[in-house]
Amino acid sequence: MAVSFDPVVWPDDADDVVAFLTANDWPFHGTPHLDRASAAEVRVVDDDVASVWIRDAGRVVGLVRLLDLDDLADGSPVFDLRIAAAHRGRGLGRRAVDWLTTFLFTAHPVLHRIEATTRDDNAAMQAVFAACGYRQEGRFVEAWTNADGSRSDALSYAILRREHLARSAAHRA
Ligand SMILES: CC(C)(COP(=O)(O)OP(=O)(O)OC[C@H]1O[C@@H](n2cnc3c(N)ncnc32)[C@H](O)[C@@H]1OP(=O)(O)O)[C@@H](O)C(=O)NCCC(=O)NCCS
Repeated sequence: MAVSFDPVVWPDDADDVVAFLTANDWPFHGTPHLDRASAAEVRVVDDDVASVWIRDAGRVVGLVRLLDLDDLADGSPVFDLRIAAAHRGRGLGRRAVDWLTTFLFTAHPVLHRIEATTRDDNAAMQAVFAACGYRQEGRFVEAWTNADGSRSDALSYAILRREHLARSAAHRA
């Protein structure tokens, strides 16, 4: 794989974002099928949001949104990771979380921790968190509203800067 991570350029990439979001199903998101109007509402670049394309050999295979970037000294950014359906299970999710963790801690020296949540039946995402050194910190019972009105538990994960540095040092050794 020749994987690269490139910033989403706004508004130049707006149509590409809508095309990517509507071309795939997102079974573990609140809205699994986005139409063009709802895809256009997804915040991709803003004061507190930045996004990155995941490309393999130049072709878009995923999108990462980095959220809550406005209070990094006190707060913790979160992220939304979406791999195109045809490319799931190829190791891209793991590559993306490793990349974004290094990127955020390197770009923002003040940052202490990164957080993320996932639905409790999203086994792939939980495996990605475990593989990338994220610790499960909590379970929010029936906090996740699904598209059909049903409710699921949400699991929260986090990694600290010192945990990331220890993992990086262990990988270099
Ligand atoms: C969840 C998601 C990001 C994972 O990325 P991925 O590229 O498919 O996962 P990877 O290939 O990197 O696999 C990472 C681990 O998950 C495991 N895995 C992959 N698909 C799985 C599945 N369907 N069920 C259980 N485990 C799975 C892999 O075996 C691997 O485990 P390992 O590290 O122990 O070998 C991706 O599938 C996706 O975008 N899904 C739809 C959107 C979504 O759910 N995003 C997360 C929102 S919080």
